[in-house]
Amino acid sequence: MTTFKRDYRADYDLTDPELSARWDEIVADLHAGCPVARSITGEGYWVVNGYDEVARCAKDWRTFSSVDGFMVNRPEGMPYFAPAEVDPPLQRALRAALEPFLRPKAVAGLEPQVRAYANQLIDTFITNGEVEVVSQFANPLPQYVFSAVVAGMDPAEMPYLLNAFSFVGPEAERAANFQRGMVRIEAYLRRRSDESPRGDIVDALLNFEHAGYSWMDKVGTLCQLTIGGIGTTGYAFSGGLYHLALNPDDRRKLVADPARIPQALDEFLRLFLGVVNMARRVTTEVDVGGVSMANGDRVLLSYGAACRDPGVYQNPNELNIERAAVPHLAFGAGVHRCIGEGLARLVLRAGYETFLARIPEFEVAKGFVPEYETGSTRHMTRLPLKFDRRAVESRAQTP
Ligand code: HEM
Repeated sequence: MTTFKRDYRADYDLTDPELSARWDEIVADLHAGCPVARSITGEGYWVVNGYDEVARCAKDWRTFSSVDGFMVNRPEGMPYFAPAEVDPPLQRALRAALEPFLRPKAVAGLEPQVRAYANQLIDTFITNGEVEVVSQFANPLPQYVFSAVVAGMDPAEMPYLLNAFSFVGPEAERAANFQRGMVRIEAYLRRRSDESPRGDIVDALLNFEHAGYSWMDKVGTLCQLTIGGIGTTGYAFSGGLYHLALNPDDRRKLVADPARIPQALDEFLRLFLGVVNMARRVTTEVDVGGVSMANGDRVLLSYGAACRDPGVYQNPNELNIERAAVPHLAFGAGVHRCIGEGLARLVLRAGYETFLARIPEFEVAKGFVPEYETGSTRHMTRLPLKFDRRAVESRAQTP
């Protein structure tokens, strides 16, 4: 029988390092008998794990409101960001203003820039025969695409902002960290409001008006777009490349036939989703997964657990790049479903295609054991890979 330091069914704690380290096992244990777990930390909250239950709650925004934010036991002084931390009608109106810039058709034209930057990043390490994927590829690629290409921001600012807008690490420092990130974002937004319009997503935000939506709310929205744009896509790179390093057969299949990458990507997203836990506030008495929730209760929707529900996925912890297309909740569901999905999919597909074309053979550095940080989001902290530099140096730059 698997034993954990705590009983996650009755005493779940999002901040326990054990949850981060043994995520697969703990989630499997919850699925074995607990579609809805309970946490007694802080304010206390329910943890919804089952796929159907999570999807149902996410789609019912009236009963499961986002207005109290997506963090449980929110540290005092944390700012609230729209659209994720508001309900319709403001949420819908704001999305209608921003979505035209992020739809798959709108971002498709960015592909040459994504490939060019992926190649530039690879140029910086290809002659070394080794790379630390998280800091040298998985994070910088989406950071550059969102900042420089989509929002016209300075990519050099992104590591600072990624650190400021972190959902993991010491809770006591989180509000102050978010505030320092907001200061930078506000300075950029103010500068843009003084400049001639560029017709981009930032101008759409500057022009957006809604009752009760203030200047600082606009700053908050750009913070949230930045968090989504730079802080979520990296895990699908590091997780997927880790799998491909350990499973040469899968890697060679994708190298030989890059048309298989999009299907593999959905499997990477299912298992290495960057956004694993999002909170809601219950607005009326409701039953979920056999549990009776009261008006005012706090609920954590575990997209991460839902994506490993054995009732939906056979051998849910197994990564199968040929898994028949099954829907997953990596991008959420309902009104708050990720607005940046099209951009994330583009960056991931073009990023994987470029990486695998130039470095088709690689392995994990000797003795490496992956470590993860988990809270509202989840990511691998580092991933050192090794490859034969002489074999890759001669390869053409553009796939
Ligand atoms: C693989 C990468 C990504 C993953 C796994 C992801 C995941 C998610 C999830 C699960 C939600 C729903 C949150 C909820 O239910 O409360 C969400 C919302 C959101 N995402 Fe993403 N996201 C990704 C990439 C992006 C990108 C690239 C952007 C920005 C360009 C972005 C911006 C947002 C925003 C602004 C929301 C809030 C939408 C709303 O509340 O209406 N995300 N994301």
